[in-house]
Amino acid sequence: MLVDNSQLQKELLSVVKAIKGQVINQESLSVGLEWKKPSPSVGKVNVFRQNNDEELKNIHQGMKACQLCPLGKTRKNLVFGEGNPYAQIVFVGEAPGADEDEQGQPFVGRAGQLLTKIIEAMGLMRKDVYICNILKCRPPGNRNPLPNEIELCEPFLKNQLQIISPRVICTLGKFAAQTLLKTETPITALRGRFQSYEGIKLMPTYHPAYLLRNPSAKKFVWEDVKMIMKEVKA
Ligand code: URA
Repeated sequence: MLVDNSQLQKELLSVVKAIKGQVINQESLSVGLEWKKPSPSVGKVNVFRQNNDEELKNIHQGMKACQLCPLGKTRKNLVFGEGNPYAQIVFVGEAPGADEDEQGQPFVGRAGQLLTKIIEAMGLMRKDVYICNILKCRPPGNRNPLPNEIELCEPFLKNQLQIISPRVICTLGKFAAQTLLKTETPITALRGRFQSYEGIKLMPTYHPAYLLRNPSAKKFVWEDVKMIMKEVKA
């Protein structure tokens, strides 16, 4: 049988081009969807991401010995964050306190116990959501985070949020809201209204530590989390 080599070559080339085109299309599509269109539906794993666990572990591993800012010298444990790597809701606090520094877990002290109650009142458990902070290391004496500490630590949080790509981010207190939203607007004015963070809905609310000092503000946090529940059920 006579084979026309040049014809065969042309056909092979067009097949290769078509396959390459598909791969590129799929890559750009999934990159776009992963970031711009967070979790497609409630209660389902984000189908565009399959190894959030691994990716979060890698970042955690990579920053375990972090000495980018002086808090690296004074911490007992770095508090990376914990929870469901595919969570629909991510809570972002300020920085670890003494209990968190001791245990290496976020929100495990008195404020943390109140946050746990809030999560349970939402009909969820801690393991359903993801909990982390702006700073991964405890500022001595629980002082406020300094601007350069926030600047150096924020990229790690950004990365966590990008990987989890939740339906809603709930910031707890002034520092988390002002840091992510790049604003100096007071938390009293920010809370209770959805904002946007990199295409993800963000609800600022009061910090549980503030609620411990001002129990009458609990009703506002309840209003805020009810809006979050409505949003993730939509
Ligand atoms: N306060 C925070 O902001 N984060 C914690 O992890 C604990 C207390």
